[in-house]
Amino acid sequence: MNDLFSFADAPSPEKRIQALRELLHHHNELYYQQALPEISDAEYDKLYRELEDLEAKHPQFHDPASPTQRVGGKPLDFFQQVRHLAPMLSIDDVFELKDAPVAEKELIDFYARLQKNLSRNNVAVTIEPKIDGVAVTLVYRNGKLDYAATRGDGTTGDDVTQNVRTIRNIPSVLRSTEIPSLLEVRGEIFMPNEAFAAMNAERDEAGLPTFANPRNATAGTLKQLDPKIVAARPLAFLAHGLGAYEGPELATENDFHALLDTLHIPRNQPLYHARNLEETLAAVAKINHGRHELAYATDGAVVKVLDRADRETLGFTSRAPRWAAAYKFLPEQKETRLLAITVQVGRTGVLTPVAELQPILISGSTVARATLHNQEEISKKDIRIGSTVLIEKAGEIIPAVVKVTRQADDSEPFSLFDHVNGKCPSCHGPVSQEEGFVAWRCTNFQCPAQAVTRITHFASRKALDIPSLGESVAEALVREDLCRSPLDLFALTLDQLGPLNLGSEEEPRRFGEKNAQKIIDGLQAARRKPLHRWIYALGIRQIGESAAKELARLHRNFSELAHSPILLELRSDTRSDAKKKNPTLAPYAITGDVATVAADSIIDFFYSSTGKDLLEKLTNHGLDPTSENYLPIPAAVDLSQQPLAGKTFVITGTLSAPRDEFKAQIEALGGKVSGSVSSNTSYLLCGEAGGSKRDKATELGVPIIDETQFSALLP
Ligand code: IVH
Repeated sequence: MNDLFSFADAPSPEKRIQALRELLHHHNELYYQQALPEISDAEYDKLYRELEDLEAKHPQFHDPASPTQRVGGKPLDFFQQVRHLAPMLSIDDVFELKDAPVAEKELIDFYARLQKNLSRNNVAVTIEPKIDGVAVTLVYRNGKLDYAATRGDGTTGDDVTQNVRTIRNIPSVLRSTEIPSLLEVRGEIFMPNEAFAAMNAERDEAGLPTFANPRNATAGTLKQLDPKIVAARPLAFLAHGLGAYEGPELATENDFHALLDTLHIPRNQPLYHARNLEETLAAVAKINHGRHELAYATDGAVVKVLDRADRETLGFTSRAPRWAAAYKFLPEQKETRLLAITVQVGRTGVLTPVAELQPILISGSTVARATLHNQEEISKKDIRIGSTVLIEKAGEIIPAVVKVTRQADDSEPFSLFDHVNGKCPSCHGPVSQEEGFVAWRCTNFQCPAQAVTRITHFASRKALDIPSLGESVAEALVREDLCRSPLDLFALTLDQLGPLNLGSEEEPRRFGEKNAQKIIDGLQAARRKPLHRWIYALGIRQIGESAAKELARLHRNFSELAHSPILLELRSDTRSDAKKKNPTLAPYAITGDVATVAADSIIDFFYSSTGKDLLEKLTNHGLDPTSENYLPIPAAVDLSQQPLAGKTFVITGTLSAPRDEFKAQIEALGGKVSGSVSSNTSYLLCGEAGGSKRDKATELGVPIIDETQFSALLP
């Protein structure tokens, strides 16, 4: 009997599911909207798990609005487009408060326009912070979230319902005695400052790219097709406007706000009311002063007419309502001391000086560092260690040094080069500043800070053309410490490459064996690629494709290049001598300043420990690329001692090789080549035919020799 009774009394699964959903919605609301939880986390979890179990056992009662759906459903292929029920406009009138009196004038003008168009002196307005987030619209039908969409072009936007359902402070179900049949709420999705900072710190730690500011983080998150990623990110929503609506009349904005409160839809606050211009100005100033205490990023205030009938009278321009205006605030500036300057090495080896500051609270967060960009910027502003500097957050997020306000006693101008003792702070390799460039860079081929860039270049199409080895693979290889420099690629195995994670921790993406094999094959093919591709692939400063080709024309392999007498002759400190000593360099395309710069760069490279290391690694990996366009050049020798010294040749007729080759040979052996036969001509080197030159030589008694006779003259 007892059993029977309890059986009859037990709610059906459907009823229990409904009851649990109700209960969890209620507790969510208390927790997220009112910050007044009534039950412990453990009690909440217990109810949650019970619901999860029941829903799994009875899939026929699935409801996207269930509290369990907060974790996100299946990934989408793309976002559907939604046509907005009412256009989603923005505000045209954004006045920058650059110059306070001017901005105030704009505000006065806006208020005066309201007075004129409404034909009365006192126009009630509200003033609230402008949220730096992403605009969305939420459509509730009969109390259930029907869909959520981004603004898009104002007429149609992306359907981001799945993503929005994961946002904890957005109710999926409205619970009240009186619910409008249609309610379209407009507002902003944003990432609270603290949550943003924590998330960025976590990403940084994990080696993932960080977001520049909360707005970017929000926009990037909402664009995710996988709602599980969105669920893991700390987004929040605040309402600030009404779209389409069917329900009890809302006369003023106050009624709308009261409705939002009853329905537990979170709305933007603080919200100030003003009845005249003075109060409006005071409220804007109040928001400006208090804005850094807000949980979210704000860069301005929005002023809106309170009365809905007044709004209708005022109407719209083509893009924006005449009843609203937005004012942007100037970034906050504060003074602090510059304690030290540290130097970071970027991905391309550029050294970036960073100001280490006495920590200071500015625009709502503590600033302890700011980039100083480069030496030029430091010199221009005469930034010195120990000085007092003015700091602001550019775009309210990235701190910047505006200027020096007080120079420290006995301070000295800052020199980046001296500061790092001419060495890269990351690898202690040499640094150099190229002519015409402001940046100092580390030139070390194996500098860990540059590994990704170097590997990517090494594998690029014009270099060694290794398929499937792009930036994301290079990044993963460096992150996993599988590669520190390009030649490390030759030690990689399929087992190491296949499982490589190219995604993030939240969104892993496996590289896979098929792609891995492409890299292995590509590396194998690279072994046989000609020397000039290899030289270019090393990414030595100043050595582009054509310089690499030139170098391969003059050297057979890396060993020759590394010990090249030609380049030693050409380098800047011996350049003038080189020209005197060895005029035969002239016919070879590497002349003038370009040749000098290239020669300097190659010599510096191979004389550095990096270059020596490279040669060793090439040997270790059995790599010995050879030139496919080698055309030897005679060594720098005393030409007057050469066998053909003092002899002048004229070349004519068809020979077994291009005339240039014979010319080079003659010159290398101290002889000269002239274009026309004269009494000074020693020999006419004559191939088949020969025409007028042969006749002239016969006439002048100049010896005429063929190739065989020519060879006999050579040593
Ligand atoms: S009221 C008809 N209030 O800023 C548009 N907008 O440039 C009335 N925004 O499109 C908008 N915080 O996306 C309003 N407290 C706030 C706002 C706000 C941020 C956004 C909104 C709007 C844009 C205006």
